[in-house]
Amino acid sequence: MTGLNLILLGPPGAGKGTQAARLRDELGVTYLATGDLLRRHRAEDTALGRRAARYMTAGRLVPDRLVISMLLDALGSASPHGFLLDGFPRTTTQAEALEAALDTASLRLTAVLLIDAPDDVIVERISGRLTCPQGHVFHRQSDPPARAGICDHDGERLVTRDDDRPDTVRSRLEVYHAETEPLVAYYKTRGLLRTFDGTQPPGDVLAAIRTALGLEPARHR
Ligand code: AP5
Repeated sequence: MTGLNLILLGPPGAGKGTQAARLRDELGVTYLATGDLLRRHRAEDTALGRRAARYMTAGRLVPDRLVISMLLDALGSASPHGFLLDGFPRTTTQAEALEAALDTASLRLTAVLLIDAPDDVIVERISGRLTCPQGHVFHRQSDPPARAGICDHDGERLVTRDDDRPDTVRSRLEVYHAETEPLVAYYKTRGLLRTFDGTQPPGDVLAAIRTALGLEPARHR
């Protein structure tokens, strides 16, 4: 299947990264997760990484102008098979910038995949999350790695993100409801929104997304 231009939308911890890991290779699309891109800048101690760090650690959004230029630069070399954006756009300003850039490139969004979950589920989930530097995601109880502390996919050491402390998660949820949730109406109005129940098991969420995208059912998880 070619030419899928997709956005993953939803609160922190709803399972966007979990679903992206299951979809991106099969679709052959360019996967761009702004959180991962920003964490890479921080690990490499770039000027952008240093500016982003204090916002991320506090659970606030990195300023639009920094994130928009980073994302649009990366999108410029996207695969002809399309793209999967995770964590962008997160404000109406970012959505409008993306729309303008896609118009200029004569591209259209295929769908916006909203994975939703209530705040109490999210706080519980994020407190058990383990991630590797390549963005693979596990959970201490519900999805543990085969070897404790080691990523099943690339053997890298698993860590707890510095913005996964309960007080920071609560700030991230407040920011989501105030600044990102308005995008639900923004994309609904444009007829692009597809909503999925993020409280269901990951395989069931994936099956629902596959159906919405008209993909064959998966043979295994
Ligand atoms: P980012 O990295 O994008 O974080 P986020 O959106 O807050 O999302 P998460 O990565 O926390 O959650 P997820 O939905 O991917 O859930 P996951 O699959 O891991 O952003 C981090 C920061 O960067 C922001 O706070 C901001 O500062 C900055 N930033 C990024 N983009 C920006 C932008 N556009 N503008 C401005 N600033 C920006 O799953 C969570 C856990 O639950 C895992 O342990 C997983 O195993 C488990 N799980 C997943 N699905 C299920 C399920 N169905 N059932 C049970 N458990 C599940």
